[in-house]
Amino acid sequence: DGTVFSMIQPTGMFHLGNYLGATRVWKQLNDSKGPAQTLVFGVADLHAITVPKPDSAQFRESRLGAVASVLACGVTPDRSILMMQSMIPEHSQLNWLLGTMTSMGYLNRMTQWKSKSQSSGNTDSVKLGLFAYPVLQAADILLYRATHVPVGEDQAQHLELTRYVAHQFNSLYKRDYFPAPQTLLTRSKKVLSLTDPCKKMSKSDGDTMSQIYMNDPPEIIRQKIRKAVTDSITTEFYYDSVGRPGLSNLIDIASGVGDTSVAQVERDIAHLRDYRSLKDYVSDLLIAELTGPRQEYKRLIADRGYLLSVAAEGSRRAREIAHRTLAEVMDLMGF
Ligand code: TYM
Repeated sequence: DGTVFSMIQPTGMFHLGNYLGATRVWKQLNDSKGPAQTLVFGVADLHAITVPKPDSAQFRESRLGAVASVLACGVTPDRSILMMQSMIPEHSQLNWLLGTMTSMGYLNRMTQWKSKSQSSGNTDSVKLGLFAYPVLQAADILLYRATHVPVGEDQAQHLELTRYVAHQFNSLYKRDYFPAPQTLLTRSKKVLSLTDPCKKMSKSDGDTMSQIYMNDPPEIIRQKIRKAVTDSITTEFYYDSVGRPGLSNLIDIASGVGDTSVAQVERDIAHLRDYRSLKDYVSDLLIAELTGPRQEYKRLIADRGYLLSVAAEGSRRAREIAHRTLAEVMDLMGF
């Protein structure tokens, strides 16, 4: 029962973190959908402009590309509502209402705007949209009165804020109107950069070697994994996220792809005696996993008409829910 909701920003090709931390889980939820469940997945294009996108033609392509990617991951429009945030004006409207209930202090404690603002110490030039980003995210989630939100670990803070905003509204208007949405974390809640395993794998990392993209062909996957930063202990491969972060990241990736425990992966690799074999083992798993989505993406991206129709139809269905919630909220508030 309940409503599952999640979104992804259309900023370039999805990477392995997006895939294992989020969109593959969306597919799994899509496939196991119960009759009383509603699944809503979306492209967060309004959020994407908090990092300026002055090339509008390219931005338009990315938005469509994101729809193709979500479909390529296996989310299907017959079971899931697949929508585009900007096509549903209610997101912006609820954002305003909730913004009046969110304290600056709470927003100030969110870490993401700080890491994205690059303004060392001086916050005067930080844009309002970037600072208030989590309020729009709360609006996204609460608009569908979602009960479960599958995301990677980097979104956990935003989910806490969402529960706080829901609570603010409920206590102000003395109604149990918004359910507190639960964060659904996966096994691969934090996939790390291949070139610097002390950081998360991130779309904003300029180094393409740090990420595996969903549409990387097999030879590129193999090359990136071979070059992944590890260590010089090659007699034994075991999980130690503090002492051996690079190796542990590869083990985590194998565990995520195979949906098996870290202990199981350790047993599977126990016989390997050099990094080349270990890395080939991980590459083989990744190649087998990503070949389907890569081919599907290639097929879908050539069919703009289809992608536009999926986004339009999904957004129309999402809007029915969004419209009802916004009307109820405004009514409760006395508008
Ligand atoms: P975004 O676009 O940065 O990332 C999309 C999803 O991928 C997950 N993710 C990761 N998971 C594991 N390891 C990583 N290295 C990694 N990098 C990214 C993210 O946690 C996310 O689940 N603010 C959101 C988009 C958003 C949203 C929402 C999400 C807007 N409104 C409402 C949920 C509900 C974001 O920027 O995700």
